[in-house]
Amino acid sequence: MESTFTVGSLKPVARPFMRSVSVASPKGDTPLAAPPSVIQVEQKGERFMVQPSAGVSLLDAALQQGIPLDHKCKKGTCGRCAVTVLAGAYFLAPKTRREREKTNQPAKRLACQAQMK
Ligand code: FES
Repeated sequence: MESTFTVGSLKPVARPFMRSVSVASPKGDTPLAAPPSVIQVEQKGERFMVQPSAGVSLLDAALQQGIPLDHKCKKGTCGRCAVTVLAGAYFLAPKTRREREKTNQPAKRLACQAQMK
């Protein structure tokens, strides 16, 4: 079968379903967003950045780093150490039974019970 092209058939056709997408190249000027390397938490309206430290609780790591997270019992009973994890939740082990009993919101953690991986 023979194809015939005319001048009109070579004109660009508007394709509404296609749109341009800008993609950052590896050498591009804009760096790709990296996952956070810290755990960002909020407690009583204040935000804190805690450096991950495997094998210790979020509360102990914060206190070791001079971060004044409010707490009392350190046993998971009083609930005073509750924080909202804003970023870096993947540094924390899944919620313990006590945490699940105290907090039903996924981002809420008891800092004294939340162990770092
Ligand atoms: S300090 Fe009491 S629950 Fe964490």
